[in-house]
Amino acid sequence: MEAMVSASVLADTSLSLPMLFLLAALLLLSLFLKRKPSKVPAIPPGPRPWPLIGNVFQIGDKPHISLSKLAQVYGPLMSLRLGTQLVVIGSSRKAASEILKTHDRELSGRCVPHVSFAKDPKLNEDSIAWTFECTDRWKFFRSLMRNELFSSKAVDGQSSTREAKAREMIDFLRKKEGERVKIRDIVFGYIFNALANIYLSKDLLNYDQIGECQRVCGLVREMMELHTALNISDMYPILGSLDLQGLSRKCNEGEGRIQELWRGVIKERREGRNDTGDDDNSSKRKDFLDVLLDGQFSDEQISLFLVELLAAVSDSTSSTVEWAMAELMRNPQAMKRLREELAGEIPEELIAESSLAKFPYLHSCFKETLRLHPPAPFLIPHRATEDCQVMDYTIPKDAQVLVNVWAIARDPDNWEDPLCFKPERLLNSDLDYKGNHFEYLPFGSGRRICAGMPMAVKKVQLAFANLIHSFDWSLPNNMLPDELDMDEKYGITLMKEQPLELIPKWRK
Ligand code: HEM
Repeated sequence: MEAMVSASVLADTSLSLPMLFLLAALLLLSLFLKRKPSKVPAIPPGPRPWPLIGNVFQIGDKPHISLSKLAQVYGPLMSLRLGTQLVVIGSSRKAASEILKTHDRELSGRCVPHVSFAKDPKLNEDSIAWTFECTDRWKFFRSLMRNELFSSKAVDGQSSTREAKAREMIDFLRKKEGERVKIRDIVFGYIFNALANIYLSKDLLNYDQIGECQRVCGLVREMMELHTALNISDMYPILGSLDLQGLSRKCNEGEGRIQELWRGVIKERREGRNDTGDDDNSSKRKDFLDVLLDGQFSDEQISLFLVELLAAVSDSTSSTVEWAMAELMRNPQAMKRLREELAGEIPEELIAESSLAKFPYLHSCFKETLRLHPPAPFLIPHRATEDCQVMDYTIPKDAQVLVNVWAIARDPDNWEDPLCFKPERLLNSDLDYKGNHFEYLPFGSGRRICAGMPMAVKKVQLAFANLIHSFDWSLPNNMLPDELDMDEKYGITLMKEQPLELIPKWRK
């Protein structure tokens, strides 16, 4: 354009003054346009979407794997369309740091699935994990949890509860010596009851009715699967109220059945407090339910809290113990080394939480398990609350934003021998899971980082240490370690597809 303008000036010497001004202005404008392109950067690249349906067929039933493969073609920040929903996926350490650190403020909204109770704007205000935005109320809930449940003082104060529940799990397993047990169901009972006692001072499951553990565990898992099922209502929100696949109905029914477990407990406690006729119960507080009742929360609000803080998180925690046990069964050298580390402990006694700090190899096994098997491979879906420029692309407002932490933790650019279970790599390493190292984000990072991390770390390691310390384990049907199937099943929690079944033998 510059060249065109200059040429025309030279060719026509009889130009009037206004015309010259106009040409000069055009020249300046063209220089300005050249230096400062006003075009907004494009959305991240991705496979061409089909009309109406978008890229649905490119996702498959293991999206963490299919999206990792697509990222090799389209780059570490790519986009897809699911119906009308734009989904942006970050799959490298740099992309994760841009999303969760540099642009944490704009990208920490939540994309709430249609099946969730929190899709209802009224109930959304009382959700923690699914609040649309990081509102003041969400900040209040996070600080309430931090102070009452997850501070170092609070977590240390709960250790005797967790130890008591771990002891019950071990005692139950002793009775099952020589029989096949499903590790995830047993551990689920421990996790669920330990949380229930911290929140409500009550067991909600009975080990002696293992069928009950399996039923509740199955119900929670079904709910988690419904949350990640490909839902027409999410792809085309305009059709949401029709619930064409019946997923919202199923989820409501499931939530109702789970809430039955504690409804009576809340009612009874409220009535008990009313009977005393004492308005100030703060001095008699014994658990989190008392804190919530003091805070004037309604029964419905308390129940929804418990769905998120009890039911939803039990699965991620029990699944981590299951994966850790599976990895050790496949890696006899690592099992041997862990046993050696625990050998100094008294055989018939439970390893206490206060001893866990003495076991660096145990801690490395825990971290390495979370590297290979992060329970939330894409974190919980984030949402852009405003347009935002990331790595030279635009992420438009309301796009769903995922970080493929599963792929990042297996990326050969970040890890040597990335697919091997090698706890040694994390011994004497300052790499932690607190969201500062973007090649390793099992708990996320930034504002939405897992609220329960300090408690989860203790719970998993306590169960894991005592399962290894108390029993020798063997695989059923003389199966060899490398025959163990390590396939994953995708859901909100990335589970082992085939439940791990092992045979315990008490170590005297
Ligand atoms: C091994 C166990 C666990 C792992 C790996 C884990 C991981 C995660 C991840 C990845 C997120 C989403 C972060 C994001 O979206 O950016 C999350 C959120 C959350 N987690 Fe955990 N979690 C575990 C156990 C727990 C436990 C035991 C609790 C509570 C008792 C808990 C409470 C929460 C809550 C409330 C949120 C929502 C935070 C928010 O949106 O503000 N988690 N967790």
